[in-house]
Amino acid sequence: MTALTEFSVLPTDLDTIAHWDGTVAIFVGADQKLDATARKVNTLTRKTIDRFVSSDVFDGMAQGAAVRLAYPAGMVAVAVIVVKLDRKPVQSAARKAGASLAQEKGPQPMLVLAGNLARPDDVALGLMLRDYDYVAHKTADPKQRGTVTCMVSKPDDLNVTNVRAIAEGVFFTRDLTNAPANDLTTTSFADRLVQLQTLGLKVEVLEEAQLEKLGMGALLCVGQGSASPSKVVVMQWNGGGDEAPFALVGKGVVFDTGGISIKPAAGMEDMTMDMGGAGVVSGVMKTLALRNAKANVVGLVGIVENMPSDRAVRPGDVVTSMKGDTIEVINTDAEGRLVLADVLWYAQDRFKPKAMIDLATLTGAIIVGLGHENAGVFSNSDALSAAILAAATAEDEGAWRMPLSPAYDQLINSRIADMKNTGGRPAGSITAAQFLARFVKADMPWAHLDIAGVASVKGATTLAPAGATGWGVMGLNRLISDNYEA
Ligand code: BES
Ligand code: MN
Ligand code: ZN
Repeated sequence: MTALTEFSVLPTDLDTIAHWDGTVAIFVGADQKLDATARKVNTLTRKTIDRFVSSDVFDGMAQGAAVRLAYPAGMVAVAVIVVKLDRKPVQSAARKAGASLAQEKGPQPMLVLAGNLARPDDVALGLMLRDYDYVAHKTADPKQRGTVTCMVSKPDDLNVTNVRAIAEGVFFTRDLTNAPANDLTTTSFADRLVQLQTLGLKVEVLEEAQLEKLGMGALLCVGQGSASPSKVVVMQWNGGGDEAPFALVGKGVVFDTGGISIKPAAGMEDMTMDMGGAGVVSGVMKTLALRNAKANVVGLVGIVENMPSDRAVRPGDVVTSMKGDTIEVINTDAEGRLVLADVLWYAQDRFKPKAMIDLATLTGAIIVGLGHENAGVFSNSDALSAAILAAATAEDEGAWRMPLSPAYDQLINSRIADMKNTGGRPAGSITAAQFLARFVKADMPWAHLDIAGVASVKGATTLAPAGATGWGVMGLNRLISDNYEA
């Protein structure tokens, strides 16, 4: 488990600044006005800050960017970090400022002088989210990570518990999504979810025998070529009385070789992230528990491994889903929809949720369409879709609505079964969504988020290093807090 930054909050004390052994960070807005803490640093350093903020360099800096002034005269500190940020920043700038601090932090303790800056919680969140490094499989001694002491005028303005709840959820998702498949097997994935019980979540693991009894022939056929047993894990957070729950469903393919319709070798190693949807569902559940959410939410993840073997499902095989519909497996690499079909049906059958969202790294086609900037949002409900897009926008998580319609649905009719699992090259992400829609009951508000392009990326983003992003944890947490909590 990647640990969060050690972060504490204290009331501002100008006398600590001169003697701080580590780094000292101040914020200065575009107006170049220094607050009391920056003035103190300016006096100690014989007006270094004045010089810097009136320079062309400061003028050219974006909101949230930072510059490191090393070994300042007049202070014990090894560096003063000057962050350009207005006193009343927009949320994205405040989070970016935090991320800049994380990157400048290094091994020493950092004193962050936030004074009466608005949105100190977003600075803290940006800092924690960017201070992430997946080192589970590195043998070198872990890098020393500097602690953070944040001084603010009114410590009550900074709800660190809430910030930590979000960052812990995102880190959980990233750790799961970054993990290689020989570390995160179906069994170890389920074990990690069972651990969430210590936070007050109710967690059940449904094993293969039970899945067979339930008739989950679609999900089970995906894992039948693997030595690792298929599982469905159900996580319940009941913080909202006796209302029907909101359901989150995740694709948890711990590795996707493509099966008998095997993928090309180049890039196949990236398919360790094919459990990203289940990772997001797990991260959201963790956040809800940590912040004691006043909502009922059930998270269900289908955990399988897609491998070729003598026992693997073949192209042309026909399987029967829990719903009872039969599916002709045209391509064993279109496995995610087979997993989700049964978990979606089970979620509705057992929990009668008031709405349901699934998340999945479902198609390469969504990357062709939207790249790595936006997840695809498919929904049968304008209201749910609007709420998802609003929450994603509010958290700076890219999301874009895509269409569904009966014309696309015809592309997955089968000659020999009720449907087939691929619709050919045209509109690949939409036919995948149409497939899922066949397992959504009438009148059930539902949305499918195709996160293949955003769950894990090759380069660093503002709030994450290269690799798993944790996309979706913040947006879904907000969706629940804004719409489903009293
Ligand atoms: N897991 C993949 C989709 C994917 C691709 C995720 C790239 C992340 C990055 C999915 O199971 C898959 O293989 N989809 C096929 C479907 C096709 C066979 C109809 C695809 O997109 O090529
Ligand atoms: Mn696949
Ligand atoms: Zn897949």
